[in-house]
Amino acid sequence: MPANLCQQRPVADISDTASKVVTLLSKMTIEEKVGQMSQLPGDGGNVSNRLRKTIENGHVGSILNEVNLDTINELQQIAIQDSRLGIPLLIGRDVIHGFSTIFPIPLGQAATWSPDTVEQCANLAAIEASENGINWTFAPMIDISRDPRWGRIAESLGEDPFLCKSLATSMVRGFQGDELSMPNSIAACAKHFAGYGASEGGRDYNTTNIPEHELRNVYLPPFKAAVESGVATFMASFSDLNGVPATANNWLLTDVLRNEWCFTGPVVSDWEAVPQLVTHGISVDRCDAALQACTAGIDIEMASDCYFNHLIQLINDKFISISEVDRIVSRILTLKFNLGLFSNAFTPSTQKANVLNKTHLKVAKEAAIKSCVLLKNNEQILPISKGKINTLSVIGPLANDGYEQMGTWAFDGKASQSQTCLQAIKDYAGNAININYAVAMENSRSNHQQGFGQAIESAKNADIALMILGEEAILSGEAHCRANIDLPGAQEQLIEAIHKTGTPIVLVIMAGRPITLEKVIAKVDAILFAWHPGTMGGPAITDLLFGLVSPSGKLPVTFPRTVGQVPLYYAQKNSGRPPSQETFVDMDSIEVRAPQTSLGMTGTYLDTHFTPLFPFGYGLSYSQFSYTDIKLNKEVIAIGNAIEISVTVSNIGRYNADEVVQLYTRDLVASVTRPVRELKGYQRISLAPGKSQVVMFELHTDELAFHNRKMECKAEAGLFHVWIGGDSSATLTAEFRVIN
Ligand code: GLC
Repeated sequence: MPANLCQQRPVADISDTASKVVTLLSKMTIEEKVGQMSQLPGDGGNVSNRLRKTIENGHVGSILNEVNLDTINELQQIAIQDSRLGIPLLIGRDVIHGFSTIFPIPLGQAATWSPDTVEQCANLAAIEASENGINWTFAPMIDISRDPRWGRIAESLGEDPFLCKSLATSMVRGFQGDELSMPNSIAACAKHFAGYGASEGGRDYNTTNIPEHELRNVYLPPFKAAVESGVATFMASFSDLNGVPATANNWLLTDVLRNEWCFTGPVVSDWEAVPQLVTHGISVDRCDAALQACTAGIDIEMASDCYFNHLIQLINDKFISISEVDRIVSRILTLKFNLGLFSNAFTPSTQKANVLNKTHLKVAKEAAIKSCVLLKNNEQILPISKGKINTLSVIGPLANDGYEQMGTWAFDGKASQSQTCLQAIKDYAGNAININYAVAMENSRSNHQQGFGQAIESAKNADIALMILGEEAILSGEAHCRANIDLPGAQEQLIEAIHKTGTPIVLVIMAGRPITLEKVIAKVDAILFAWHPGTMGGPAITDLLFGLVSPSGKLPVTFPRTVGQVPLYYAQKNSGRPPSQETFVDMDSIEVRAPQTSLGMTGTYLDTHFTPLFPFGYGLSYSQFSYTDIKLNKEVIAIGNAIEISVTVSNIGRYNADEVVQLYTRDLVASVTRPVRELKGYQRISLAPGKSQVVMFELHTDELAFHNRKMECKAEAGLFHVWIGGDSSATLTAEFRVIN
């Protein structure tokens, strides 16, 4: 087991803040201390007498989901002027992918493979939120997600630890800035710790069973990266991790988070997750739940009152030591000092100058452009050239819906401010192209076909049918899981009907998860996957469709052919009988009464090909890129050193375009089985047609480390393969050896 790396800070190091915390703590009653550990929902813009009294009595330390600025200032005033010690409040909100200006959903932001873009989105979100009195966001959500049935994959940064680590760091930096006390910085919150994305069956809040080495090699690295990036807070997951819910999991919240990683910030429970320990069957009653959660490492109880109703008695009865409570409350007070709340907790109501301003909208559009992934482009039907078509038929329930394009967790977004595809296309086309619009379906789940007739007529009279389909925002996000991840409702039938007109189809999909497209892919000529692109989704998609900019997004998550393949991800283990094209046997080709061992005898299906429809890292461009001259500066490296790996990337197409160059490695033989490929580097580059660039990666053996049978995190000597290319199926390869 890793040693306890957190050496106690020598007294001489105690900072000014620490001495203020000690002084304040010494004045607090037990009730006031427990009050700091309680978080209550706001009253929707009001200040009820009950809430006022609770704050006056020092019985609450943070409020969540209050977004009325005047009300927030009033709550702060009560806390500072009317309570005995004047301790200001933390004001928390789920600012997940924007506040008023909504950026692409996090899964879409992950598809940009652009840490700078992700940081910018978080930074602008923090500016808008802080101008609204918010000082704490419950983001980034950094659960590794490999099950597209799970609704919360929409909030995640995808399936890969390396990509998730890098973007999590960017988000934390964007939210928190250089100093938490800066006016537009807000405290970030790494959530949901940990393993929530492995919820069985893709059903939210469900059991997770994750062997420790899998937990440490796949699910924990983004959280450790968040600690290293200085994230201010953590949130424990709802889920039961290997039999112990995260909310009561000492190993997770104390042994790993505190003793191994030396995290010093507060840990908040998820919504009513403390009393849910009774529902889990791990606590006999709410008092026991309070004891278990507090002992395990939950510092703040969100939205329920087990702490306030039971901790004082548990302390008096010596079940919980006052020194432990002092450590907890010190973390909370330290955060408030670091946020500058004791100097100024009020937000001027005039400020809001930045909300939805031009810069924010420009960044939102750029982020949406970089997030869209071109999955198919037959005969280069895209980009649509203004001069080449007279009539464009725009069809579908998501073509002109400013609310749905914002996606899940967009509470404070303004649908009225969204710019839809239909609007943007009309603005761009002007009089040059006739635009015919047919909504065809009331919403993405409609099952009747009354609107198909108009859509068919519209398509028949057009040069191209642009279908904008997908999922409404409500079909992904928390508790919104789907067992079937096809296009909902009668959308597949709509595609079939438009396909029959013979008019070429360009399909744009807005969704919060990978969608299974095998049944429609042959009927459309191009597919642009836009996730839920946010406020500026329309202008972004329009610029892409008409070639003002080339698509450059890459999939942060594998797209299966059918939901029956799930979980399906690129970094899988080889097994002893890996599937291969040679051994794949299609069910329909099997002879009747074929002998038992006559088939492939490998890990594949009889009724579906074993490969994904689109692999992790995949995304087309309007241009084409070649990868040549992979070079290593050495063939053998000793552990503790680095190797330089370079490749020449050339734009051999006709468009200026970005490309995300990806580097993957494989540890061929190790003390535990290792994935067949792992992302170990990526760079987004821009190339003009005919230009080339040598892209260099430095790969340190630390990046090759993994948790072995003894749970030691170490790289091991042996042979490694390396691939560089435009997605996880890259073929340009080389090898190197690591020695001790
Ligand atoms: C929800 C979510 C969590 C969110 C919290 C506050 O249940 O699980 O991600 O931050 O409650 O809204």
